[in-house]
Amino acid sequence: MTLPTSNQRALNKMDRMLVGLDQALRAVVPHSNPTTRPLPVSDDTIPELSITESRHVAGLMRINHTGEVCAQGLYHGQAFSAKDDGVKAAMQHSAEEEVDHLVWCETRLDELGSHPSVFTPVWYGLSFGLGAVAGAISNEFSLGFVAETEAQVSEHLQDHIEQLPPQDQRTREILAQMDIEELHHRETALDSGGRALPLPIKYGMRWMANRMKAVAYHI
Ligand SMILES: [Fe+2]
Ligand SMILES: [Fe+2]
Repeated sequence: MTLPTSNQRALNKMDRMLVGLDQALRAVVPHSNPTTRPLPVSDDTIPELSITESRHVAGLMRINHTGEVCAQGLYHGQAFSAKDDGVKAAMQHSAEEEVDHLVWCETRLDELGSHPSVFTPVWYGLSFGLGAVAGAISNEFSLGFVAETEAQVSEHLQDHIEQLPPQDQRTREILAQMDIEELHHRETALDSGGRALPLPIKYGMRWMANRMKAVAYHI
């Protein structure tokens, strides 16, 4: 049956809203995503950690999980407001790739007997808003924002890898794989036309990320 054009438009808009809502819920509700790839680890043995080590690794993984929630929010926000269909599709594709990272962080937090940040919905909402603003400014700015975000995420992943207890090879391998993929996302954004952001914006992003890291480490 062929629907009248006006009905098709209304249905498509509703479909998009429902897809957006579904994506947002999957980003903030733990264990609501099926992962397409298993944990990137060479050994299934869970490392033995002292209570202090376990708490520290859980704090680091809570930060990384928050980073992945923010990545989801940013990409969804950019896809929401991007003016170019190609950029919308690229943002959507990147968000899908980040889902595995989100699930890997959730899994490691579970293994450590810990949990994601209680402010997860807040992190998602703030990031969605930032992404939507970036997407509305221009494609070049939006892609530049992605490139800078991924570069900063890579920096903190490398910092976390250095802080891990020597025997926690499991977390080390997960973070190393995420780092490889974040840098690939950065290159893709630059190759697609992203331009370098002004320094004050870079510093502002770093300042905000540091505030979020300080909170997410604890709760
Ligand atoms: Fe990621
Ligand atoms: Fe990424």
